Amino acid sequence: MIGIQDLTKIYRMGSVEVRALDGVTLDIAKGEFIGIMGASGSGKTTLLHMLGLLDLPTSGRIVIDGTDIAKLTDYEKTMFRLYKLGYVFQDYALVPDLTVMENVSLPAMLRKDRSEEQITSDSALILQKTGLFDRRDHLPRELSGGQQQRVSIARAIVNKPDILFADEPCANLDSENSRMVLDLFREINEEMHQTIVMVSHEDWHKDYFNRIVRLRDGKVVSDDIIERKAS
Ligand SMILES: Nc1ncnc2c1ncn2[C@@H]1O[C@H](COP(=O)(O)OP(=O)(O)O)[C@@H](O)[C@H]1O
Ligand SMILES: [Mg+2]
Repeated sequence: MIGIQDLTKIYRMGSVEVRALDGVTLDIAKGEFIGIMGASGSGKTTLLHMLGLLDLPTSGRIVIDGTDIAKLTDYEKTMFRLYKLGYVFQDYALVPDLTVMENVSLPAMLRKDRSEEQITSDSALILQKTGLFDRRDHLPRELSGGQQQRVSIARAIVNKPDILFADEPCANLDSENSRMVLDLFREINEEMHQTIVMVSHEDWHKDYFNRIVRLRDGKVVSDDIIERKAS
């Protein structure tokens, strides 16, 4: 579903070069819940940005569902993101002046292929799933961090993306709220067969993934399939 070939990303600042990704080759299959782990600065966010079409690699190839994404125009990339990808950020990135319901409905409304009734019922369903339906008319600032992150997950999956990306979604959460978010990811992975690519540097998160890829200095240093514990 995702093919990554010899991907490099070099950031240039004046005469200084940072090789953030240094020849990453990786295949991600449909239905995987994969954890990209590694110390701070190892290139995790850079990799996720490339896969989420948020930035361009310096060299190498990314093929998602048969599409070589380097061949897409900017407009096609926007459409590709809207129809195929969901992205959860560390800091939630909710629209502050929109209610929970409006935030979740937003990506569905940007698409032109659904009726208003369908968008409303899809959003309501996702909010029930994430346990936030009774908060649908609240503003983000009226919710806890954990609740806000669950809203941003609901927003990311309302369009039923082929792939869900999450960059350290628990970074600002305590362990109880982190577990709630991780349990939610596991549930949507198992029940909806949602492919999830999640970045983390917290070692205990590894219990949730069914595959762990570790990065160091922009290189893949290990790639392990995990036997899922009975839950
Ligand atoms: N926009 C940028 N400009 C310059 N250097 C960057 C930029 N983004 C990341 N880097 C550098 O690239 C390396 C990898 O960063 P990053 O992908 O954010 O790592 P991680 O998410 O694993 O902490 C680091 O050395 C970082 O300083
Ligand atoms: Mg990062």
